[in-house]
This record gives sequence, C-alpha cells and structure tokens, in this order.
Amino acid sequence: MSNEIIFDTIAKQEWLEAATDPISKAVHNLFPGDAGRAVKNALHGTWLGHPLHPVLTDIPVGAWTLAMVLDALDGLGASKDLRAGADFAIGFGLLGAVGSAVTGVTDWSETDGRGKTIGLMHGLLNVAATSLYTASHFMRKKKTKRSAGIALSMLGFAIANASAYLGGHLVFGEQIGVDHTATPDATQPEEFRAAIGEDKLSENTPTRVEVQDTAVVLVKRHGRIFALSATCPHLGGPLDEGKLVGDAIQCPWHASELALEDGHVVNGPTTFPARCYDVRIRNGMVEIRSASKQAITASSPVAAA
Ligand code: FES
Repeated sequence: MSNEIIFDTIAKQEWLEAATDPISKAVHNLFPGDAGRAVKNALHGTWLGHPLHPVLTDIPVGAWTLAMVLDALDGLGASKDLRAGADFAIGFGLLGAVGSAVTGVTDWSETDGRGKTIGLMHGLLNVAATSLYTASHFMRKKKTKRSAGIALSMLGFAIANASAYLGGHLVFGEQIGVDHTATPDATQPEEFRAAIGEDKLSENTPTRVEVQDTAVVLVKRHGRIFALSATCPHLGGPLDEGKLVGDAIQCPWHASELALEDGHVVNGPTTFPARCYDVRIRNGMVEIRSASKQAITASSPVAAA
C-alpha cells in the first residue's frame, strides 16, 4: 500500500472527521481569556520562534527506543543494571509523552480539514502507545509480570513509531508546523516596485496588492503605511481578509496576530513572524520591496507623505 493510500484512507474516515469539531471546541474552552491565551501561546511555542511540540516528541521517542535496546541487552544477560536503566527510560518517556500530548493537542486544535483528521489519528495512536507504556511501567515492577510488561512496551513501541510516521507526514505532507511564508528570497521584489496608488488606501483597512507575483497586505495607520506578506505563516490564511487588533493584524482563520511594525508574533497559533516589506511613496504610488535589505539600509516603513 503506498503512502498516499494510507493517508487518504485515514483522511476519509467519517467517524474521525466527526470527532474533530467537538474535541477542538473542548480544547479551545481550556484556554479562556487573556491568561488562557498566554498559556496557549506558550504551548504553541511563540516564545521559541518554532513549534514546541516537535521538540518534546523527541523525548518519548528517544527514551522508549533506549528502553527497547536495554531490554534486548538485558534479555541477552549483558548486565542486571540494564534492567533498571530500561525501566527509568520508560518512566522518563512517559513524562515526555505528557508534554508532547499537551502541546500537540493545542497545535492540533488550530488546524483544519485533512490535516486535522490525520492529526486526530496521530493523537489516538499516541494515546494507545502511552497507555501501553503506562501499563508496562507498572507491570515491570512485579517480577511475575515483567515479561508481559516488556511485551506491552514492544507493542507500544510499534504503535508509537506508526504515530511518528503520521506525525512526519503532517509536517512534510500536510505542511502543519512549517512557515508558510518561507519562500526563497529570489521570488521576492529586491528593488522597490509600484504596488498601488497611495490614494487607494483607506486608514485602518487592510488592502491586498500583488507585486512580482507576491501577495502583500498594505495597512495605512496613523499616517504610516505597513506592508506584510498577505499569507499567514501559520497555515497560509489570507491576512488581507483579517482585521486590525491594535497595531497588529489578526488572521481570519485561527486568529494569529502579527505586528504591523515588524511582523513579530503578538499571539499564536503561528510561531513564525510575518514577512515584512520596506515601503516608500514615489509620485503618489506606494512602492515596496523585500525587507531582506532592511539590515543593510536600516530602512523601515515610511510615513505616507
Ligand atoms: S492560517 Fe492559522 S492563524 Fe492564520
């Protein structure tokens, strides 16, 4: 069976799809108000500039792999100390699994469609693997049940790896957790290019323009014009259809908020900043260029003269 058939089969499971909305709503309800949003930002990894979830998934995967190796060596009679090492690795992996689950379900609640359905299967497999490892953890403590406990951890290892396989597809196939504005600089306008007549911009009204095949959202605010990529870095939502929240623009899809000034993340779920553009006015036209030259020219969004 090819990879795509596996992913398509999972994505078409109606029972999975039907479960996504109620679970998402339950997760959203866990983060009420500003304090909830701060916690949610922390779990997404906005402070890290990168999703936190994949950092934590390495803990159970690594620890449980080590446990399996130590169990095998113990079985060969290499050393009795290996048994204690394997048991410690199982427990350490369980701690990592809790952090991985909390961050994962938070990220998952801000996804949509096919990725969300496959993501739910990924989560269910992780629950199954973690349950098996939990049972193994306790059975290993009893001499008479140790062999059964090791068997459960081996089954858990197989399921955890199947889940990791789906997790890899969610990132590389469904593009969840990647920066949706990470286009090569070569596709960006290096020199100033005309975007729109200045008189076409209204105060506090996001306006989409296309420059050199690049979609940009322009915002005129308090006498300045700001330019950001019109594509939300989270999952590619149209920032030009978003609304202003203070000095940030809020994505209409999952409410990420990105600062107009420099694109930094004010609120997640995105953990990546928005791509910014230099702005200048020439002969009544708003001109923009990629801000990759900003460090060289120290240029910043200019006043709408
Ligand atoms: S696409 Fe998800 S917040 Fe913009």
